[in-house]
Amino acid sequence: MTALITAGGRATRLRPITYTINKHLIPLANKPMIFYAIEKIAAAGITEIGISVNPGEEELQKAVGDGAKWGVKITYIEQAGGPKGVAHVVANAKAFLGDDAFLFYLGDNIILGSLDRFVRAFEEQKLNCLLALSKVKDPQRFGVPELKDGRIVRVDEKPAEPKSDYAVTGIYVYDKSFFEAFAQIRPSARGEYEISDVHSRLIADGKAVGYEEITGWWKDTGKPEDLLEGNQLLLNEMAEGSRDGVEIDPAAVIQGRVAIGKGTVIGQKVLIRGPVAIGENCRIENSYIGPYTSIGKGVEVYSTEIEHSIVFDDADINCSTRIVDSLIGANASITSAHATLPLGHKLVVGDNAIVEI
Ligand code: DAU
Repeated sequence: MTALITAGGRATRLRPITYTINKHLIPLANKPMIFYAIEKIAAAGITEIGISVNPGEEELQKAVGDGAKWGVKITYIEQAGGPKGVAHVVANAKAFLGDDAFLFYLGDNIILGSLDRFVRAFEEQKLNCLLALSKVKDPQRFGVPELKDGRIVRVDEKPAEPKSDYAVTGIYVYDKSFFEAFAQIRPSARGEYEISDVHSRLIADGKAVGYEEITGWWKDTGKPEDLLEGNQLLLNEMAEGSRDGVEIDPAAVIQGRVAIGKGTVIGQKVLIRGPVAIGENCRIENSYIGPYTSIGKGVEVYSTEIEHSIVFDDADINCSTRIVDSLIGANASITSAHATLPLGHKLVVGDNAIVEI
């Protein structure tokens, strides 16, 4: 079996962060989001992986490479014509996928546990299509199955009136009947080839469409608050690792699970309460780093309290205030307003930024 991962799209709901970084490279618990998908697929024993990218993408290929570090072979496939829908990603990769069954994984999904059971259910039940379902509070945001007598009878994409409280998650297994169904669908009102239309088509054509329910957590990281929650879920799973090459002031207090990268200096008057991940070559002084915070590489934090946040590489924070539930982009600088006159908040805020002061 081969696997296909999505890494294109527009990611408009994550702007301004996604103006400068591919959404799938956003770090969660200090690791690019797409690495989790690759790890899960490799752990399921799949070694041929295609990654679908927008035309002209280069950054993702540079960060992910050829797959050797996971023992897999990665092929990059440009989505011809740009983001034309999730179903189009698969159709566009037909030459790579060939006639064999394949796992399709939306690269912005993260999941606890292994993918084996989905592949096994697909094979054992001799299905044409297997969907992984998860119970959610807000099904309107997802593809939603309508279930009758334990079977899926149709799937609606982002319905105003959902027929169940399940989301069809971004983990699917198909055989080649996908392509026959795709040939019969047309773009939706938002101009995209919808994966849910393929599913409804497969069912209408009498194909065997089964499902498995995800029992642990699953998260689609479409919005900033989803990223923070995804970061939280992954920090809960994170290993602490070694503290080799880390300098910790004897007066600093570190509680709970805290991973700290090489070259980082934890100075005096610091309290870190895990789970927290801090990257390499950071400097933290006179600050509180609270639970569910990930701090990238080369970050400096002075005289600040920060909790439940993601700080990207090389940011500089020194602001005598408390920061919560925040995404702070690479190289961002947040300093105290008291240093220069006139007093007041002085902001250089990028397009589509969100600031609550
Ligand atoms: O996460 C599960 C949901 O994913 C499903 O419940 C929906 O049925 C499915 O349509 C999809 O909905 P989203 O609105 O979350 O899809 P999104 O536009 O975020 O794209 C999902 C992934 O596919 C993401 O990795 C970006 C990538 N993508 C998206 C489009 C539209 C592409 O690579 N190319 C595209 O053309």
